Amino acid sequence: MNHGASSWGTEVDAALRAQLGSLLDEGWEIWDRFDCEVRQQNWHPFVAADYERVLEALLALRAPRLRFLEWGSATGVITIMADLLGFEAYGIELDPALVDTARGLAERHGSGARFAAGSFLPAGYEWRPSNGDDRRGTIGDGTSAYPGLGHPLEDFDLVYGYPWSGEQPMMLDLIRCYGSREARLLLNGSEGVRIYRNGRLES
Ligand SMILES: C[S@@+](CC[C@H](N)C(=O)[O-])C[C@H]1O[C@@H](n2cnc3c(N)ncnc32)[C@H](O)[C@@H]1O
Repeated sequence: MNHGASSWGTEVDAALRAQLGSLLDEGWEIWDRFDCEVRQQNWHPFVAADYERVLEALLALRAPRLRFLEWGSATGVITIMADLLGFEAYGIELDPALVDTARGLAERHGSGARFAAGSFLPAGYEWRPSNGDDRRGTIGDGTSAYPGLGHPLEDFDLVYGYPWSGEQPMMLDLIRCYGSREARLLLNGSEGVRIYRNGRLES
């Protein structure tokens, strides 16, 4: 794959471009295998985002000393990308097998990204929408992973999630209840990566 031709190719130096290119290549290989060996046998909530689109959103937000969190980090590609771009990057994933995959991927790509197995829902959180429809889509249950990360949700400057249909209001509620007022929430969807801050759509 020629990553030099990507729209992000000119925004990063050659060494970083090569590192990101090789991460994305392996990320897509892992996704293809997972899709074949896991998803086509049994349903699984992991579907990979368009990594290059997320990369472009992260490039625009790059700044020193920002802490990044991925909700539902799956194979870790996006958290590792954030780490390689200079964010202090963490991922939380409910499926422990995917957390192992993410740690292996980080090691092979020279990344210090940190992963915790468990839930991105803070302990005690309950989704209580005003319309009374408290379905949570495919968001699963498990022990909250924040104590294992060593940071509560309010410590993060950027939080990224890829909600399935109907899960977005809950993610917005979570950041409103537990996030810092300055935090940006990046939500991936069919229309691209939307960025929210303090309850408002920024871009
Ligand atoms: C749609 S996939 C997104 C994967 C990746 N973030 C991306 O954008 O390519 C959602 C992931 O969230 C995980 N997940 C679901 N509920 C979770 C929870 N409560 N805590 C942590 N991870 C969860 C699923 O196992 C799945 O890997």
